[in-house]
Order: sequence, then structure tokens, then C-alpha cells
Amino acid sequence: MNIAIVAGSSRSNSQTAKVARFIRQTLINQFDLAEQEVSVIDLGSYPLPLWPGEDQGPWGMFEKQLAKADALIVLAPEWHGMACPAIKNFFLYATKAQLAHKPAMLGGISAGVGGAYPISELRASSYKNCRLCYIPEHLIVRGVEKVMNMPLPVDEEDRRIRERLNYNLDVLLRYADALKPVRAAIDMSLPEFANGM
Ligand SMILES: Cc1cc2nc3c(=O)[nH]c(=O)nc-3n(C[C@H](O)[C@H](O)[C@H](O)COP(=O)(O)O)c2cc1C
Repeated sequence: MNIAIVAGSSRSNSQTAKVARFIRQTLINQFDLAEQEVSVIDLGSYPLPLWPGEDQGPWGMFEKQLAKADALIVLAPEWHGMACPAIKNFFLYATKAQLAHKPAMLGGISAGVGGAYPISELRASSYKNCRLCYIPEHLIVRGVEKVMNMPLPVDEEDRRIRERLNYNLDVLLRYADALKPVRAAIDMSLPEFANGM
């Protein structure tokens, strides 16, 4: 099983990247995935140039990580009530060649009580041409600076978000297993249906 976690903040040392690293450790420690089975694509540490451009920056490396993933976790901070532009730019690079019919769990990240807007924005747009399949469960990490910092939860909010994360990851991994034969059965090479409607 191979999971790619996309941390969609353009800030280096972002809280979104912190959550990505926490989820990676959770998959390794609690879901028995091997270190090499979980990768983090941090758009803050390895920024993608604004598409289109001659220079594709780290896309070549990301493309390989995404192509071998069986499932994705897409994390987006809420900035001015929107998904951070870095994650929208990511979806201009990503295509069905890497992502078609792979399950993905969304995560909205907020330092306050926001975090829902990036979820609804990415559910409404982002998947049409790449055919990524967002699962019904998503994560909204509110008060992000106060949670997922220590190996053990420090309070009730921290405990609750970790429990929700574990529940969601269990669901995601089941979708990842279930969609493997679906992907193998779908012909993605038909030119008349190259893009979604
Ligand atoms: C330009 C900008 C706009 C922001 N707007 C919002 C917002 O609309 N709602 C919200 O809950 N948090 C907002 N925040 C705060 C983020 O929730 C906070 O920075 C959090 O740490 C996630 O961003 P990060 O992953 O880049 O650290 C904003 C932050 C920035 C930098």
C-alpha cells in the first residue's frame, strides 16, 4: 500500500506540513505501513512554479510519487476563506496519468475555527480532469497550532481530532484496496473522454 500526502500550503514550516508529517507517522505507527510506503509532498518546502512555465520545478519528483500511490491525502490551509493557491496550482500540474480513480481524503487546516471552505472548494473543483475520487470522510483541523504536536494528546480537542483521523484513515485504506481492481478495469486512453465533463 502506498500513500502520498500533499501538504498544500506555500509557506515553509507550515502548520499544514506539520499535520502531513503527523498523519505520516500515524500511518506508520498505527496502520503498520512501512516508512517507504508513505510520502509527503510539501508545496511549501518544494514549491511548484506557477503553471504554466518552462521550469516545472520539483514536478518530475512529485509525478513519480503520485503515480505509485494507491491513495492520496490532500491537505489545504484556509486562506481568506479559500483553498491556498498552491494546492490549486498543484491541480494544474496533476493529470489522470497520476491520479485517475484513486481515492483521496481531504483535510482543511485552520488556526482558528475555519477549515471548511477549502474542503467545499476542492470537492467542487480540482478532480474533473484528473479524476481523483474524494471519499465522503474528510478532516477539518481547527486550532491547528494546539493539536498534533506531541506523541500523546494534550487535551480533549487533540484527542478528538486524532480519533477522527484514525477513523478516516481506516476508511481511506479500505477504499484504496477496493479501487485497485476498478482502476485496472477502466480504459483511460479513450481520446473522446480525455477530459471530464
Ligand atoms: C493569507 C492568509 C489568510 C488566512 N485566512 C484564513 C481564513 O480565511 N480562515 C482561517 O481559518 N484561517 C486563515 N488563515 C490562518 C491559517 O489558518 C493559518 O495560517 C494556519 O496555520 C494554516 O496555514 P499554514 O498551513 O500555511 O500554516 C490565513 C492565513 C494566511 C497566511
